[in-house]
This record gives sequence, structure tokens and C-alpha cells, in this order.
Amino acid sequence: MKFEDELLPFREETKNSKRKIEVTDFGAGSKRLGNSRTIQSIYKTSVANRKWQRFMHQLIVDKKTVEILEMGTSLGFSTVYLSQATKGKVTTIEACPATYDEAKNLFDKLEVSNIEAVNDTFSNYFEDVEKKKFDFIYLDGHHDGEAVLQYIEQLKPSMAQSTLILVDDIRWSAGMFAAWNKLLVDDYFSEKNDLFRMGILKKGNV
Ligand SMILES: C[S@@+](CC[C@H](N)C(=O)[O-])C[C@H]1O[C@@H](n2cnc3c(N)ncnc32)[C@H](O)[C@@H]1O
Repeated sequence: MKFEDELLPFREETKNSKRKIEVTDFGAGSKRLGNSRTIQSIYKTSVANRKWQRFMHQLIVDKKTVEILEMGTSLGFSTVYLSQATKGKVTTIEACPATYDEAKNLFDKLEVSNIEAVNDTFSNYFEDVEKKKFDFIYLDGHHDGEAVLQYIEQLKPSMAQSTLILVDDIRWSAGMFAAWNKLLVDDYFSEKNDLFRMGILKKGNV
């Protein structure tokens, strides 16, 4: 994939960067790591690895115009994979200002035109999200089981007739796994798949 070649130097630089930024935690982040973090450590602990990025890309790529919502941008690497799989747009939400700036820089340097990066909390964003419809939702922030269930409820009116929802880190904590088990019995979704790291929910005939 051509964009992967373009992304590679940025990935290498990020993996090795000892530059520190002040991270503001709006979710259930690691208390152990503290707020002043190297880019390298954020990449290691928060960013989905290339195998999962390719997997998400492949899930979308043949469906052409897919409107995507990513909840939790971090440094923006998964966002780039999502953006390159669709002729539609990726809306990505990140509350931490310093982390958002890193991702925005990456999108600008790569000149990706179909990413709308939003620097806000998920809750604030939901205040006007009902006007939009998404075909693909990647939920990868605020790893708290009750919060995840609440976000999914709030997102239901914004799900297109056929929608795929990826819930990341379903085994991150007992609370996350309890939430996943509740989603498994939610009749709103026509299919549920447990991929161990992620759970996939399908609405309609995806
Ligand atoms: C696991 S990382 C996202 C990784 C990214 N999807 C990837 O694969 O590269 C989670 C991100 O969600 C952000 N986040 C957590 N809780 C949030 C909230 N309530 N509102 C907005 N952003 C939040 C964090 O600041 C963090 O950068």
C-alpha cells in the first residue's frame, strides 16, 4: 500500500522520539505513566499496531464511501489507515490538546484531506453528533466499561442502516469485559464477534 510507505518515516521517527508532551487524561488512562510522556511511550502504549491498522483498513476498503468515526485519535496513525480506505470522511475525536496537536501535524504533513480532527471530549462532541450518520465506528478511548456502554447508546441514532462498530480493548479491565458481555446480548446488533483484543458489532446487513 503506497500510503504505508509515506507513513513509514513518520512511524520510525515517532517510535524513537524521546520528546515529551504534557498529556491530559480524559479517560481511564494509565496513572503509572504520569502526565509528562515521551512520544515514544505514547506510541508504544496507545497506538494500535500495524497488524490491526491493516485489518481495519481491509474491513472498509471494498465498500468505497464509508463515513467513519474514530473515538480516540492519539497520534493519528490508525486515523491515516482509516482515511486511506474510504472516499468518505473520517471524523476523529481527541480531547487531550497536546496529543491532538501531534496528530494534526501528522495529517498536515501527509496532506490527507478527508480527516476532520476534533479537539474535544466525546461527551461534548455527542451534543451535535445526532445530525450525522456513520457506517464505521472505532471506539478506542475512555476504557471504562460503563462509559463505553453509554457512548454506544448515545451513538445508536448516528449509526447508518448498516454499521460496523469496533470496540477496542474489551479485555483491558474487568469493567471493559463486563461491558462487552452486555453488548453480546444487545438485540440492536445483528452480529457480534469476539476477536479477543477487539469486539465487532454489526448493525444491519454489513
Ligand atoms: C488508545 S488511544 C487511541 C489510539 C488510536 N485510536 C490508535 O489506534 O492509534 C485513546 C485516546 O483517547 C483519548 N481519550 C480518552 N478519553 C477521552 C474522552 N473522554 N474524550 C476524548 N478523547 C478521549 C486519549 O487522550 C487517547 O489519546
